[in-house]
Amino acid sequence: MQIVIIGSGNVATVLGGKLQEAGHRIVQVFSRRPEHAMRLANELQCGHVSKLANIYNAADLYIAALSDDALRTLGSQISLPGKLIVHTSGATPKEVLLKVSANSGVLYPLQSLRKELRPYPEIPILVDANLPEDLERIAVVARSISGQVQTADNDTRLKLHVAAVLVNNFTNHLYVLAEEYCRKEGADFNMLLPLIRETADRLSRIPPRDAQTGPAIRGDAATIKRHLELIGSYKDIKEVYTLITRQIQSER
Ligand SMILES: NC(=O)c1ccc[n+]([C@@H]2O[C@H](COP(=O)([O-])OP(=O)(O)OC[C@H]3O[C@@H](n4cnc5c(N)ncnc54)[C@H](OP(=O)(O)O)[C@@H]3O)[C@@H](O)[C@H]2O)c1
Repeated sequence: MQIVIIGSGNVATVLGGKLQEAGHRIVQVFSRRPEHAMRLANELQCGHVSKLANIYNAADLYIAALSDDALRTLGSQISLPGKLIVHTSGATPKEVLLKVSANSGVLYPLQSLRKELRPYPEIPILVDANLPEDLERIAVVARSISGQVQTADNDTRLKLHVAAVLVNNFTNHLYVLAEEYCRKEGADFNMLLPLIRETADRLSRIPPRDAQTGPAIRGDAATIKRHLELIGSYKDIKEVYTLITRQIQSER
C-alpha cells in the first residue's frame, strides 16, 4: 500500500517505521517545519513536503498523526476527495476529518510512543470509520502491524484513552516522584526496576485488585505513620501517598 504520513512526531515516526517494516511503501512525509519533514523522510527514505498544497494526491492511505488541535483545522486546509485518511488520536471524534474526505476514520495506537525508541513496541490498535465500507480497509492496515486490533466508537476510544492516562501517564508520574526521592535521599532507584516489571507483568495473570500488597492493604498503621514522617518535607509525594493509601484502605 502507498502511504502518505501527515506529521513527523512520535506517532508519525513509529507508525511510519512499523508500516514500512510490514512491507508498505511510505511515499511522502508532510510536516509544517521543513527540517522535521526532512528528518523523518530521511529515516523512511521517501519524499517530503512542508506545504499541504504539495501533498501527493494518489496514495492509498493518508495518516494524519498531528496534534489534536491541528487535526481540527486540517479540513479547512486540505481536501482529498475519495482518498482514505485516518487520524491517530484517542480523544478526537472520527468525524474530525470529514471535510478532508468522506472516506475518513481512525487508527489509534493504544501505546505510549516516543520517536527515538527502538525496537518498536507491541501496539494494540483501535480502528473506526465514517463509512462502513472503509472500516475493513483500515483494519487490514492495522492488522499488518499489530496482533491486537479492535473496532471502537468515539466513546469507547475516549474511555480507553482515560484508562491509558491512568495506567501510563499517572504511573510514570509516580516513577518521576520516586526517582527524585531516591536521588535526593541517596537510594538506588534502579533497585526498584524488577519490582516495577513484576507489578506490570502479573496483571496478565491476576486482576489488579487481587495483586495489591503493601502497608495500606495490610492495615499496617505504624509503618504508614513512619513513612509519612519520613516524607514530611516532600509535599507532592505526601499528597499522593495519603490519597492513594486512603483509596487502597477503602477497598479492604
Ligand atoms: N505519542 C503517543 O504516545 C501517542 C499515542 C497514541 C496516540 N497519540 C496521538 O497521536 C497524535 C500525534 O501525537 P504525537 O505524540 O506524535 O505528537 P508530536 O510528537 O507532538 O507530533 C505532533 C505533530 O503535529 C504537528 N503539528 C502540531 N501542531 C500543528 C499545527 N498547528 N499545524 C500543523 N502541524 C502541527 C507537529 O509538526 P512539527 O513537528 O512540524 O511542529 C508534529 O509533526 C495526537 O493526536 C496524539 O494524541 C499519541
